[in-house]
Amino acid sequence: MAQAKKAVSKTSAKQSTRGVARAAVKTYQNYIGGKWVASESAEMFENINPADNRDIIGRFPLSTSEDVNAAVNAAQEAFDRWRQTPAPRRAELLFRLGEILIRNKDKFSADMTREMGKVLKEAGGDVQEAIDCTYYTAGEGRRLHGFTAPAEMRDKFAMCVRQPVGLCGLITPWNFPMAIPSWKLIPALICGNTVVIKPAEDTPLSTYNLVKACEEAGIPPGVVNLVTGFGEPVGAAMTNHPALRLISFTGSTETGRIVASACAERNAICSLEMGGKNAIIVMDDADIDLAIEGAVWGAFGTSGQRCTASSRLLRVGNGADPKTDVGPVINADAVEKIMSYINIGRNEDGATLACGGKRLTRGDYANGHFIEPTVFSDATADMRISQEEIFGPVTTVIPANSLEDAVQIANGVRYGLSAAIYTQNVNRAFRAMNDLYTGIFYVNASTIGAEVHLPFGGTKATGNGHREAGTQVLDIFSEWKSIYVDFSGKLQRAQIDTVESPQ
Ligand code: UN1
Repeated sequence: MAQAKKAVSKTSAKQSTRGVARAAVKTYQNYIGGKWVASESAEMFENINPADNRDIIGRFPLSTSEDVNAAVNAAQEAFDRWRQTPAPRRAELLFRLGEILIRNKDKFSADMTREMGKVLKEAGGDVQEAIDCTYYTAGEGRRLHGFTAPAEMRDKFAMCVRQPVGLCGLITPWNFPMAIPSWKLIPALICGNTVVIKPAEDTPLSTYNLVKACEEAGIPPGVVNLVTGFGEPVGAAMTNHPALRLISFTGSTETGRIVASACAERNAICSLEMGGKNAIIVMDDADIDLAIEGAVWGAFGTSGQRCTASSRLLRVGNGADPKTDVGPVINADAVEKIMSYINIGRNEDGATLACGGKRLTRGDYANGHFIEPTVFSDATADMRISQEEIFGPVTTVIPANSLEDAVQIANGVRYGLSAAIYTQNVNRAFRAMNDLYTGIFYVNASTIGAEVHLPFGGTKATGNGHREAGTQVLDIFSEWKSIYVDFSGKLQRAQIDTVESPQ
């Protein structure tokens, strides 16, 4: 068993008062109404490399609710024009954005590894996911299909079209710092909405790069607005802002619940993508080498800030070093949380620590947030390490007696994002597919690696019924308008007047 997911929380920031080479550190700004501007607070926070805390990547605006108001006003001003821009024209700008992302892929990947810690190849995958999402979703500019339907009266026409929801607030996590913002931003734009986006405070640079590329692509002023800062006050101000018709949030289940309650108070649309605790079921007939490879990738890819199982052969280090398999975790708070789970696994739960379990603090690791890839074995389904999202390089092996038993264990958590089975038996594969209550399922592949043209999201505490990506995301960022055209020239009352059948 393992986990996935992200957090948007004030306490998890890599904020520091360290003054290394302060003058040389680049200063970034918010993007509001097509202008790069400082926060009205005039304060900044630092973006620090999790592999080396002497490396300050940049200083970003420590924004306030006033900055959010300004961004919302800009989004409001731009909305009508953008809404009226034909969707195929909106798409042209997004295709241009895709080209800019391709051109800058190496630079954006390096920036991402530096601020987030994941190894370069994976950062490249993150940028590629944003590129794929941009091209795929921009293609919707020439579709955005509605439908026609027969009307129940004569000389009457019925049809349905999509309309934008309006102004959207996007709150994004640090674990996929460009892919996830793109999952929200691109569909919002193609549907004709304008947005205010707040990236996680740990990884503002990747979203800055995305927004800067939007500017270069010629997306008009006010359509995309960027406000950096913390959940409190920036995320909260967005969530409570009466003019933001929709909040799309990816982060922890706990924060998501707060976002959802605030949205419920003001009848705003709310789309949530939250925690996971994703199981890989390895059957006795599985190709074991393949299953191990998949389990290791699932558990320790993205430094464990995704899914499942075991190995001792991984090299931990700075993600910028091509020899590294597992980079640092995001920040000091994450180290503390993950280490506390390792202690719980050992002492309270009483699972067997099969490997790992320690912080790495010496030599090259001295200035970063490194934890050994950790495997617990002989665990039971009810242990906290089997139930709770750890979001670090820690995985738990739970013996199961049968497929039915394994399915029950896999389903027996509060989350429902992803699951996998390794087996050579087609009946078992389909049985698991049928019985696992998750949003994503893999056969003979790990629990991670979703593609952008299929819906992404989960059941239970992972979400609130929406799906991102695919064409399904359009149902988040557009609303249906049902249209009836009566060309009979007389009053016809649905459900009341009878229409005679033809003789
Ligand atoms: C996430 O972990 O929040 O399927 C997103 C995957 C990636 C996206 C993960 N394409 O693992």
